[in-house]
Amino acid sequence: MNSFPSLLESIQDLNKIQIDGLLSLSSKFKQRESESNLFTYKRPIIATSFLENSTRTKHSFAIAIQKLGAMYIDFNAETSSLKKGESLEETFLTLFNQGVNICIFRSSVSFQLSQFREMPPIKIINGGDGINEHPTQALLDLFTLLELSPNLEGKTLAIFGDNVHSRVGHSLIKLLPLYGMKIILCGPHHFLPQKQDLPFGVEWSDNRDETIAKSDFLYLLRIQKERHDEKLHDAIDNYHETFGISLDLLKKMNKRIPVLHPGPANIGVELDQALIKSNLYKGYEQVQNSIPVRMAIIQSMLVNNDKNIGNVNGEKF
Ligand code: CP
Repeated sequence: MNSFPSLLESIQDLNKIQIDGLLSLSSKFKQRESESNLFTYKRPIIATSFLENSTRTKHSFAIAIQKLGAMYIDFNAETSSLKKGESLEETFLTLFNQGVNICIFRSSVSFQLSQFREMPPIKIINGGDGINEHPTQALLDLFTLLELSPNLEGKTLAIFGDNVHSRVGHSLIKLLPLYGMKIILCGPHHFLPQKQDLPFGVEWSDNRDETIAKSDFLYLLRIQKERHDEKLHDAIDNYHETFGISLDLLKKMNKRIPVLHPGPANIGVELDQALIKSNLYKGYEQVQNSIPVRMAIIQSMLVNNDKNIGNVNGEKF
């Protein structure tokens, strides 16, 4: 792969050739063909900086970094000078000048990384920002879907749940149509975007059973309780009856189709215990695939030789 962005904020930062390259490199990493001996002379330093909780993303990046043979720094944002009011740009520039090559950053604030598009202070991977995007999750989801079905052209994936507040959903609807997939967003009206805001190839529905009947894959989203007010909590109480997916329901409808979930799952809300324990549930395959896909993303970004990184765009005196 000759080019790779220095800021991976959004799926739209990647073109199809780059995504195909990532998928092929991920397969190699999964088959353990090229692990661990990449950086014999000069070990790159890679930091995670998570200002919001995470189990899957942070630890899979930590594992991917160490499998590649790079040095791993867990930058603790809570005890850093960010808490003394230092700006994000100064923080990134400090990490860069300490020799950090890439920072994987998570925040509850949306679109915070866009300010670094022209002059990145450091190479940055978005580990999920507010309700904007979670591009690396979408890429590992695509990898998992391709393992389940090597040709996704014309296949339909239904995304159930809180589509308005889901950064994973926002990345998936940009990525999957590049592989010919049709997408149906399904849920109660307050979880669905306006029809006129939907990209080409994406529909919405408020009818669970009709949507399941049309789908080849289900993708369930967590209800983002932390992003809702109290009133909506009442609506969430009835969510399982109207939009939740149970193993019994899929059996009754004779739909033996894969069910994906980025995690963490609210068992009893978007899905039931029997489904998560069944062979239809692919959430653990997604977790397994997160390591090779994130290794591929890190390696691809490391080999990009962007001369703008760390340049301070100020007046010369
Ligand atoms: N899928 C995902 O982002 O999970 P974590 O919040 O546990 O990282």
